[in-house]
Amino acid sequence: MSNEVKVSIRNLYKIFGPNPKAMMQHVRDGMGKPELLEQYNHVLGLQDINVDIRQGEITVIMGLSGSGKSTLIRHLNRLIDPTAGEVIVNGEDVLAYGQAKLAKLRQNTMSMVFQKFALFPHQTVLSNAGMSRRVRGESGDIADTEGQKWLDRVGLSGYGGHYPGQLSGGMQQRVGIARALASDSEIMLMDEAFSALDPLIRTDMQDLLLELQRELHKTIVFITHDLDEALKLADHLVILKDGAVVQQGEPQEILLHPNDDYIIDFISDINRARVLRVRSIMEKTDHAGEGVVGEVSPNQNLESVIAISGGDTNLHYRVMEDGKQIGLLHMRDLVKALVPVEAADPARRAASAA
Ligand SMILES: Nc1ncnc2c1ncn2[C@@H]1O[C@H](COP(=O)(O)OP(=O)(O)OP(=O)(O)O)[C@@H](O)[C@H]1O
Ligand SMILES: [Mg+2]
Repeated sequence: MSNEVKVSIRNLYKIFGPNPKAMMQHVRDGMGKPELLEQYNHVLGLQDINVDIRQGEITVIMGLSGSGKSTLIRHLNRLIDPTAGEVIVNGEDVLAYGQAKLAKLRQNTMSMVFQKFALFPHQTVLSNAGMSRRVRGESGDIADTEGQKWLDRVGLSGYGGHYPGQLSGGMQQRVGIARALASDSEIMLMDEAFSALDPLIRTDMQDLLLELQRELHKTIVFITHDLDEALKLADHLVILKDGAVVQQGEPQEILLHPNDDYIIDFISDINRARVLRVRSIMEKTDHAGEGVVGEVSPNQNLESVIAISGGDTNLHYRVMEDGKQIGLLHMRDLVKALVPVEAADPARRAASAA
C-alpha cells in the first residue's frame, strides 16, 4: 500500500536567463541543455519534472553537481518560481499562494536543513534550536522547551548554553536537525545536509536520521550526490541528469532494473551484496518448496545470506515475516543478482572491453 502524496511536482520546468518563457518552445521541441546554452545563452535548470513525494517517506534526489537538485528543492517552498509547471502541497497549488500563505508554508509546513548548517553564531545553541518557534511568534518558553526536547533527542543535552562556534561540524549539524524537528513541520527539506561532514560522522548522522524517522514518520526530501547515502536513506530515489529525471523508483528496483546507460554506469561500482535485500530477489510464494535448508528474513542483505550458505549455490531458503512464509530464496537467483546489468549483457560487455 502506498502512502498519501504530500507534494506533487507536475511538468516542472526552470530556465535561467533573460527571457525564459520565450525559451520554453525550444525546450518543448526537444532542445537539450547544451544546445540551449550554446544557441540562446539560457540555462535549462529543470525539464519536465514529475515526482510524487509521499507522506512518511524519505525521497532522495540524487545527481551530479549542476544536475538541478538545489533548483528542484527550492521550488517546493517557492524560493524559486518555475518557468512552467505546478507544485502541489497538501492538495494546494503553492504557485497561487499570496505572501501570507507563503510565509505560513515556509514557517509551519516545511523546514530546511542546509549543508552549511546556517546557525546564528551569536545566539546560543538552545536559542538556535527553538528559532522556528520564535519566528512564528510563539512564546520564548515554548521555543526553549521544544528546542531543549530536540537537542536532547539528537544527543546534545548540556550544550544548550554553548555557541555554535564552540561545537564541531557534526554537532552543529545536529543542532540544524534539532531546529528543523523543533518546528514540528510535516515536511523536512535537506539539501546536502551531511555532505560537509567527515565520513564517520556522516554515517552517524545517517543512522540518527533513520532512527528518528522510524519514530516520527516525517515526509523528508533529501538531496545528495552520494550514491551510498542515497541507497541507505531512500524509500523513493529520483536520479537527475542535466535537469531531467533519468529514473525514479524504489532503490532496489533501480539497482535490479536500471533503465538507462547513465544509471548503469552510475551503479556499476556499488557493493550489490551489501545493498540488495532478500525481498527484492525472492520468489513470492507460500509453497513449501523442495530442498529448503533454513529460514531468512526479507530485509536481510544478500551478503548475510551468502555467509550462512557457505557459498553453496544449490540451496533454498524460506523467507519468513511475522512467523509466515512470504517467499523462497533460491541461491542461484541470488548469485545472478550480484552481477551488474553491464556484465550480464554480452553487447555491453563487449563495448566496455573495447
Ligand atoms: N540563479 C541562477 N542563474 C543561472 N543559472 C543557474 C542559477 N541557479 C542555478 N543555475 C544553473 O542550473 C543548473 C542546476 O543548478 P543546481 O544548483 O540546482 O545544481 P545542483 O544539482 O544543486 O548542484 P550541486 O551538487 O553543485 O549543488 C546549473 O547548470 C546551474 O548553473
Ligand atoms: Mg546544490
